[in-house]
Amino acid sequence: MYLPRARPTRSLFIALVVFLGGLTLFWQQYPVWSSSRPALLAEQTDGGFWKSLSALLAAATPQCRPPKKTCVAKPIWWDNVHTTTDTTPQNCLSMPESSIQAMRESHQTYVQGIANSRPNMSYIPGTRGLVTTAGTDYLPHVIISLRMLRKIGCQLPMEVFLSTQRDWEPYICNTVLPSLNARCIVQSPHLRTTAKNEPPSRYQSKIVSILTSTFSEVLFLDADCFPVTDPTKVFTTAPFTTTGLVTFPDYWATTASSIYYSITQTPFPALDKHQTTESGQLFISKPQHEQSLLLALYYNHFGKKFYYPLLSQGASGEGDKDTFLAAASFYNESYYQVHTGVKSLGHMVNDHMDGSAMIQYDPVEDYLFTSSPRDSQSNPNPSPKPMFIHNNFPKFNPRLLWTEHAHIITDPTTGAFRRPWTATKEVLDSFGFDVQKSHWREILWVACELEGKLWAWQGVDGICENTRAYVDEVFGVNNVRRGSGHGKE
Ligand SMILES: *[C@@H]1O[C@H](CO)[C@@H](O)[C@H](O)[C@H]1NC(C)=O
Ligand SMILES: *[C@@H]1O[C@H](CO)[C@@H](O)[C@H](O)[C@H]1NC(C)=O
Repeated sequence: MYLPRARPTRSLFIALVVFLGGLTLFWQQYPVWSSSRPALLAEQTDGGFWKSLSALLAAATPQCRPPKKTCVAKPIWWDNVHTTTDTTPQNCLSMPESSIQAMRESHQTYVQGIANSRPNMSYIPGTRGLVTTAGTDYLPHVIISLRMLRKIGCQLPMEVFLSTQRDWEPYICNTVLPSLNARCIVQSPHLRTTAKNEPPSRYQSKIVSILTSTFSEVLFLDADCFPVTDPTKVFTTAPFTTTGLVTFPDYWATTASSIYYSITQTPFPALDKHQTTESGQLFISKPQHEQSLLLALYYNHFGKKFYYPLLSQGASGEGDKDTFLAAASFYNESYYQVHTGVKSLGHMVNDHMDGSAMIQYDPVEDYLFTSSPRDSQSNPNPSPKPMFIHNNFPKFNPRLLWTEHAHIITDPTTGAFRRPWTATKEVLDSFGFDVQKSHWREILWVACELEGKLWAWQGVDGICENTRAYVDEVFGVNNVRRGSGHGKE
């Protein structure tokens, strides 16, 4: 008997196998395509988060011209804040009262919008991890920082946010980062649809990544910032467990404009209340600070023209740094600002420190130390130890160190190689290990293992060779007896 149904079923099956095989090959051939999956996944599972946020942001767009800068605020060193006699707020912005009123109304619209229908964040409850942002140029730094993180024993996963699909480097995102328990995620494109249809700027990226991250409790790290001791304990101890937001200090007192406080209708704080934030590192609990994170997004979304100048008036490092505490203060939410002052690493030039990195201190030790009697005799707690180094400028990019940033690693008078970071013996000893040597081992690993693979270094020769020559001479990595210990200079 003739069985007409067998053949079509079989050929359908074969067709399906061929089709799936082809799809798999295509997938492997064009990893950029397959890499779009995480982004699409995030879109599908974000429960309309970005869509409802976009609507709220659009409805609360300031209906006025941005403030005009009439001067640049004078920085006030935090160390001098108690002795400075002039404590009147600096006025470097001009804005007519009608515009201030318009901004007040938009701010209220947004705050009410959040209160009425708070967009649901899609993080996974009970998770913890690190978040960073990177484009092609910053990926080498992310890998160096990540290797330092693993070396000091931190096991927390990391999410690396790329601002566009074009930044997805298949070898780095599919192989290198996963081997370090990190993964690339393309920032949700939804925010782009709001106003100018452009990806978030460098500053906006930070808040967008924190909001998009799947982690509930986040340690945000700039690509060029790495821990020198395991930060995991911070999540389970005061002050994080009591406040859910831990920030680190910059060198200066706030230079916010009084206009910002007029817009938000909150009192102008005393000058010595707020130190500016150095936002290279930040601990935040999303469930505890949902409202203020959403308000911080508002300040960043309208940051460049409106809120960045309002919060800094052009002083050093104007950008996203002060938006987190401004938002938390608006909602009276608790936070902890580390008291131990930021310190610089670099070289002395004509009696001042030409720094290329900043040291930030352990919040847990800082909390214990500063909540006990101040004088060191009766304080039972040791003074806080360093927790992070933020290698902000110039970043140690093995591509540029031999050319435009050569002064960092060569003595200007003798031309000999030197250590990039000097400080007092006390500061160097406080790390408890030779942190520069450790750091340079990882720079060397990345320079040699990823030369010819990282997009940022395409077409550049000698990255591994130059780095090896430097590391051998200054740190004697291949000959441990040579040059161990601190400061050769
Ligand atoms: C957020 O989730 C809650 C509970 O699932 C729901 O009632 C609310 O409408 C959601 N909010 C938005 C803005 O979608
Ligand atoms: C914050 O606290 C002040 C003073 O107690 C109060 O007037 C204000 O309404 C509070 N703000 C919010 C957003 O709850």
